[in-house]
Amino acid sequence: MSSKDTKDHTFNNPSLSLLLLFVTITQISAVHFPINVWPKPTNFHWPHPSFIPLSPTFKISHPTHHHLSSAVSRYRHIITTEHHHPLLPPATNLTSSSPPLTSLIITITDVTSPLTHGVNESYTLTIPPPLGSTTAYLTAQTAWGAMHGLETFSQLVYNNPPRVAAGVEISDEPIFKHRGVVLDTSRNYYGVEHLLRLIRAMSMNKMNVFHWHITDSHSFPLILPSEPELAGRGAYGEDMKYSVEDVKKIVHFGMEHGVRVLPEIDMPGEYHSSYFILFLVIRFYLGK
Ligand SMILES: *[C@@H]1O[C@H](CO)[C@@H](O)[C@H](O)[C@H]1NC(C)=O
Ligand SMILES: *[C@@H]1O[C@H](CO)[C@@H](O)[C@H](O)[C@H]1NC(C)=O
Repeated sequence: MSSKDTKDHTFNNPSLSLLLLFVTITQISAVHFPINVWPKPTNFHWPHPSFIPLSPTFKISHPTHHHLSSAVSRYRHIITTEHHHPLLPPATNLTSSSPPLTSLIITITDVTSPLTHGVNESYTLTIPPPLGSTTAYLTAQTAWGAMHGLETFSQLVYNNPPRVAAGVEISDEPIFKHRGVVLDTSRNYYGVEHLLRLIRAMSMNKMNVFHWHITDSHSFPLILPSEPELAGRGAYGEDMKYSVEDVKKIVHFGMEHGVRVLPEIDMPGEYHSSYFILFLVIRFYLGK
């Protein structure tokens, strides 16, 4: 089996460890509500658990924001088409006599806030009780907090046709400013689609920093336009390199998911370039 085959079979799921963490923690946490949002919001108020139908024409309105717009489209799609069926269906019935929830209105105090360390990621989400208003409200200081609120909302919807938790009030804010995952693509190369899947899994867990350890002494998979030979000699293989377009795509995808991509490029030097020494040794012995 070639090393590439091994990679494909063994390391093709960088989000697996996140999932395992998730399963472990949810198993030990006590169940208080028919649906438990993950990660547990700092304030979750659902005094009379019930569900109401979600309108087939459910709409999400939001202020203009480049990255939030794509997050809203994504969540609208998930909310109306995913039709999630929990392993243990909530022991709470649908109040089918209630008018369906028709819209979620998002308001943001500061739409210009960039996704930086320590940016305000708080949000509040209010879904009306049965037979009440047909509009839910999500308010946030920044677009990044609004994305977390959308994730929370999406977790409160299940079934086909979809129903949504009613009479819920949530205010939530992260305890830690930096909630990240480090992935080393120098020791093990991961294709772009795997990195995107990792970022998707991170956003579902409300994590906000993808520390991308791109290069190190084992390989140099990044194509630098000014120094293409670094990847030319340093990548594990022809199909194991990241182009400028790949990097832009990953960074942009991260922004749409509230995940800041923090690339780390180790300077080729004494400690971060053994692939070159290997290359020189091979060239010396093969005389090429
Ligand atoms: C839900 O409805 C079923 C069937 O009508 C009933 O047996 C059950 O007690 C109800 N559960 C709750 C929590 O009201
Ligand atoms: C974030 O903004 C909310 C709403 O304006 C505020 O209540 C909260 O204290 C802020 N959090 C931080 C960490 O500044």
